[in-house]
Amino acid sequence: MSKPIISPSILAADFANLQSEVEMLNKSEADWIHLDVMDGNFVPNISFGAPVCSAIKRHAKKTLDVHLMIVEPEKYVSDFAKAGADYITVHAEACPHLHRNIQQIKDLGCKAGVSLNPHTPVEVLKYVIGEIDLVLIMSVNPGFGGQTFIETTYEKVRELKKMIVDGGANTIIEIDGGVTSANARKLVDAGADALVAGSFVFKSDNPSQTIIDLKNC
Ligand code: DX5
Ligand code: ZN
Repeated sequence: MSKPIISPSILAADFANLQSEVEMLNKSEADWIHLDVMDGNFVPNISFGAPVCSAIKRHAKKTLDVHLMIVEPEKYVSDFAKAGADYITVHAEACPHLHRNIQQIKDLGCKAGVSLNPHTPVEVLKYVIGEIDLVLIMSVNPGFGGQTFIETTYEKVRELKKMIVDGGANTIIEIDGGVTSANARKLVDAGADALVAGSFVFKSDNPSQTIIDLKNC
């Protein structure tokens, strides 16, 4: 059985001890570190920006998976590229010129991701799927950690997987929001390659073991 990429979300970590949280992830079986950037405009919450990403980069030995929940991402992607992002993901709903945004991220030397809110159909990606390294399917409404997983996600993942396979693309499907051991295997079986988990990892008694459990779902 294929094992998913695990990308713990630092949003649920102890912000007063970011270095030790990152060092814990370095020693764990986590593949990536997920960074949730929120602007209080695209989503009703503010988290952190490129300086925090840069501080995490100084300690991180894992791939930095940056999720931009912001309007006008074209103004900031170069800051995140300089801060050490490996993947930069923008929201389709925040990008009227999505194709241009994807090219900009790739021109900066980063992998380009596009995220879809729960109500956004996968069809919006039909003419760009071959250009995208990653699609981030939101399985909660973006803005907050600790929300309940939306069950229609499975069908959406299956539809997206078909689009990727039919198009001969090589795009990673990542799921974000409410991921736990209870839904991880079903998501992977539906076609997910990567799983983001915030609360489930960082609020558990043993985050490193929880990461192993998700990996072996
Ligand atoms: C939500 C963020 C998620 C969040 C996931 O807007 O994009 O990455 O941190 O948190 P959990 O796993 O707690 O739902
Ligand atoms: Zn996220």
